[in-house]
Amino acid sequence: MNLILLGMPGAGKGTQAEFIQKDFGLANISTGAMMREVSRSESELASKVQSYLSSGTLVPNEIIVEMLVERIQQDDCSNGFLLDGFPRNFDQGKALDNANISIDLVLYLNIKEEEIISRMSGRRVHLASGRSYHIVHNPPKKSGFDDITGEALIQREDDNPEVIKKRLSVYYNETEPLLEFYKNKNLKFIEIDASKPVDLVTDAIRQSISS
Ligand code: AP5
Repeated sequence: MNLILLGMPGAGKGTQAEFIQKDFGLANISTGAMMREVSRSESELASKVQSYLSSGTLVPNEIIVEMLVERIQQDDCSNGFLLDGFPRNFDQGKALDNANISIDLVLYLNIKEEEIISRMSGRRVHLASGRSYHIVHNPPKKSGFDDITGEALIQREDDNPEVIKKRLSVYYNETEPLLEFYKNKNLKFIEIDASKPVDLVTDAIRQSISS
């Protein structure tokens, strides 16, 4: 099973990706996490990638597509993978087709924009693993610290109102049109109400994957 999670920034893709990975044994590939790792690395690309992340714009396709296609060739993807944050525009969607990477299921996490700000402002993340919490809706066991490693949680620098606005406009202009692209393909496309509490969204996703 190869699966794509589509949805607005803050819809809950990263949160649900963790459950899907655990329950179904799929490799969990987050291009946002990949890019944050590059931005913290010593590589030549680091500062370039950092500038896209902090402005809320997409990292150019020529940087991200090859990295993603290579990642999917790795052994842990042979039993299936889930993509969180890819594709983000038509060219990325077509790049998967061109690389003969087949997709079985697209889960669209649907949520209204009004809910996004509160989700993002309360988000805390464990940078190394990408695990994501919310101070009210999905708190860690010990406030401010990751459940698994006990390391400190941080607030993402792109979770500030100005950058969130930019990320939403990028979503509407570039990513939302992919919904039609995938609805018209020969694959399973399922819309999930992502405004519900985390566990109810997880249940809906489990059912969709198992059906
Ligand atoms: P990325 O990291 O992918 O960010 P995003 O798509 O903006 O999505 P988020 O991580 O913000 O949200 P999410 O849907 O994962 O929500 P989460 O589960 O954390 O991308 C960041 C940047 O990287 C981009 O701006 C771009 O620059 C670059 N990039 C990445 N991919 C790229 C690509 N393919 N091409 C080019 N550039 C790319 O949940 C949010 C909060 O809500 C959390 O606090 C969570 O605990 C809480 N929450 C989750 N579910 C619920 C619920 N059901 N009820 C209440 N609270 C909930």
